[in-house]
Amino acid sequence: MKYNIAVIPGDGIGPEVIAQAKKALKAVADVYDHVFIYKEALMGACAIDKTGNPLPDETIEICKQSDAILFGAIGDPKYDNDPTAKVRPEQGLLKLRKELGLYCNVRPVKAYDKLISNSPLKKENIKGTDISIFRELTGGIYFGVKELSDDGQSAFDGCAYTVEEISRISHLAFKAAQNRKKKVTLVDKANVLETSRLWRKTVTEIAKVYPEVTLEYLFVDNAAMQLILNPKQFDVILTENLFGDIISDEASVIGGSIGLLASSSIGDKNALFEPIHGSFPQAKGKDIANPLASILSAAMLLQHLGLYEEATAIENAVEKSINLGITTVDLKGKDAYAAPCSKVGDFVADYIENQNDSNINFKNIHMGNSTII
Ligand code: IPM
Ligand code: MG
Repeated sequence: MKYNIAVIPGDGIGPEVIAQAKKALKAVADVYDHVFIYKEALMGACAIDKTGNPLPDETIEICKQSDAILFGAIGDPKYDNDPTAKVRPEQGLLKLRKELGLYCNVRPVKAYDKLISNSPLKKENIKGTDISIFRELTGGIYFGVKELSDDGQSAFDGCAYTVEEISRISHLAFKAAQNRKKKVTLVDKANVLETSRLWRKTVTEIAKVYPEVTLEYLFVDNAAMQLILNPKQFDVILTENLFGDIISDEASVIGGSIGLLASSSIGDKNALFEPIHGSFPQAKGKDIANPLASILSAAMLLQHLGLYEEATAIENAVEKSINLGITTVDLKGKDAYAAPCSKVGDFVADYIENQNDSNINFKNIHMGNSTII
C-alpha cells in the first residue's frame, strides 16, 4: 500500500531521531511491500528562522493532506530564557494540534525488564508497569484566554472545558481500557477546580456505557505520588491537558529514560506521532540522542494505519536492541559502551530486515569484539 507521511523534523535533536524512525519505516516498507511517500515540513524555531512563523501555512496544508504525521521535537533555548519573546517555537505545535483537532494524546509507559535498574525507583515497585496515559490535548488552560495587564503587574490564564471536549477523549480512553486491564483512572483536581468537577460528572456518566471497565478517581497531587509509589495500580489514566503534560514526564522515570516514550495525537481527520522528550538542545548534532521514542512513535503510526504486524516488527526490534544493550548513553552507566543514535537506528532497521544476521553482528560489536562501527 501507498501512504503519504508528513515529516516535521523540527528543532534540536528532532532531525536526528526522525532520521532513525525513517530507517525503521524504510525497513518495514521493504519487508512488507509498502510505499511511504514523505513530505517534509517546517515547524518550530527552525521555521521562525526561515519564515518568521513557527507554523507556516504550507506545513498545515501538508499535514492535512497526509495519512499520518511524524514529528520530532520543538524548542530552542534562545526562546526559553526570554519571557518577552513575541513568537515562540511551541506556538507552532500548539497551533498545529488545534488546527488539526488532535484532541487525544496517548502516551504509553512501560517498564522494560532489561532496563529496570535504570529507573531510580525500586525495582519491585515498577516491574511489570504498563500504563496508557490519555491526555486531552486541545483544551484547558493551554488554550484558554491569556492576558497580561498593561502595567505588567498581573497575568491571567483561563481554563475552560466543554462536555463535548471531555466526552470524545473519554470514549477513546474507555475503549482502550476494554482491550487492556479494564480500568480507567480519572486524574483531576475536583476538590478545587470547576472544570475538574465537570470532568468527573461527564466521565462518570460515560463509564455507564462501559460496565466492564472500572472507573477510579484520583486528585492530581495524589496521582503524582501514586505514580511513583505504586505505578502498577494504573491501566489507563485519563486526564486534562496540563495535568497530562506533567504526569507523563513524571511517568517517564518509570521506564528509566524519557528517551523511550512515544506518543500519538489523534483527531477525527488527522493523526500525529512524536517522541515526548523534546528538543534536548545540548545533544543536538552529537549523535547521542536516544532514537527509540521516535522509532516507537513510528510503530504507533503504523498501528494507526492498521498495519499491526508491521508495528509489532518495529516494537520487537526495539525490544531486541534494549535486550542486547544496543542503546544510547541515557540508558547506560557512565562507563558502559553506548551506541550512537544512528547506530541504534541502523540496528533496528537491520533487525526488521534480517533478524538473524543483525542479531549476531551487532551483539559482537556491542560487546567490543568488532571495530566496524
Ligand atoms: C509536550 C510538550 C509540549 C506541551 C510543549 C513543547 C508545548 O511539553 O508535548 O508534552 O506542553 O504540550
Ligand atoms: Mg510535556
